[in-house]
Amino acid sequence: MKRVATVVASAVTVFALSVPVAQAGHREPTLRSEAPRDLKIGSAVWGQRHLLDYNRKHPTEFQRILAAEFNSLTPENDMKWAEVHPEPGVYDFSGADAVVAFARANHQEVRGHTLLWHSQNPQWVVDASADWTCEEARDVLEDHIRTVVGRYAGKVYEWDVANEIFQDDWDAGGVRLRTEANPFLKACADDPVGLLGDAFRWAHEADPKARLFLNDYNAEGINNKTDAYYALAQELLADGAPLQGFGAQGHLSLLYGFDESIQANFERFAALGLKVAVTEADVRMPLGDDGEPDAEQIALQAERYDKMLQACVNVSACTSFTVWGFDDGRSWVPGVFPEGYATIMTEDFEKKPAYYALLETLTDATPGTSPRTPPGRNS
Ligand code: XIL
Repeated sequence: MKRVATVVASAVTVFALSVPVAQAGHREPTLRSEAPRDLKIGSAVWGQRHLLDYNRKHPTEFQRILAAEFNSLTPENDMKWAEVHPEPGVYDFSGADAVVAFARANHQEVRGHTLLWHSQNPQWVVDASADWTCEEARDVLEDHIRTVVGRYAGKVYEWDVANEIFQDDWDAGGVRLRTEANPFLKACADDPVGLLGDAFRWAHEADPKARLFLNDYNAEGINNKTDAYYALAQELLADGAPLQGFGAQGHLSLLYGFDESIQANFERFAALGLKVAVTEADVRMPLGDDGEPDAEQIALQAERYDKMLQACVNVSACTSFTVWGFDDGRSWVPGVFPEGYATIMTEDFEKKPAYYALLETLTDATPGTSPRTPPGRNS
């Protein structure tokens, strides 16, 4: 609505209202152009697959949109152990470097993902961890964290240091630290919190400016898992560990309900002095025989994306809202779940109602300048 008013406003009004309004007449708004100045809008991208061929003058359609819509990128796989540290002592930064270079070329920032996880570990870690002592596991993890975080020091604004370290309600044993599935936590099962605190310390020493996060799925609302994170966060902070943020991945499915307590959950972590973020948003759904969603699903998807963004916009400690890929053609969902249509654009880059819902919320939150932080107070 503001936008229409802008277009018909007199030249004097347009001038007086300055940049965001003036732009509206000339350029299509994008998610990044409408975002509050203190809230980054991101997408995951797999550098190894989709950015190695980047040529600034001749970007692919995918690359053009990635640059136009987002001001934050998360390497979807490129900074994970299996990609970046495939053999003992061997690091391969090609995919991660491609993400960082693309971000730099397009005035975007990078969210690092991830340093300690039970999944996508290289075979050598899986094999070696069978007989690790805690001391050995610590040495391997410390070398990895110092090397990877150190390489991108000053180029990554947030790191998911520990990813998915708690089990779920429905796992055997219920919500507790993954001291079986995670090889590092397993080797240090006598004091897993001690290991976690040190993982944050090593990362902080390697890049003092990066904000260091815990990150998980099924962590949007207030539930048993986020209660466990809340307790862990307090324990780590009491121990002086440089924990600075809590990320809710935001992988939702229309097969389940939406937990409206997401904002209250963010607020309780913010009250501990932490930043929060939506780090991997997507909203998948079961599709009909024709592979298409119905109108109700499309509308509900838009609403769920928007609710996650609104929780983030409403909590000033929320630093970033990232979608886990923006187009269905590159989404991880179809390979993993019997569902689809999870992202904000079709495989032909047609913008879905979900895209427009996000755009409208960003536009309403801030006609160019954040109401959350006075102008000039943030980057
Ligand atoms: C996914 C990637 O999107 C896939 O390409 C890969 O095959 C598996 O991992 N939670 C996370 C992400 O923290 O790293 C996962 O990414 C999705 C779930």
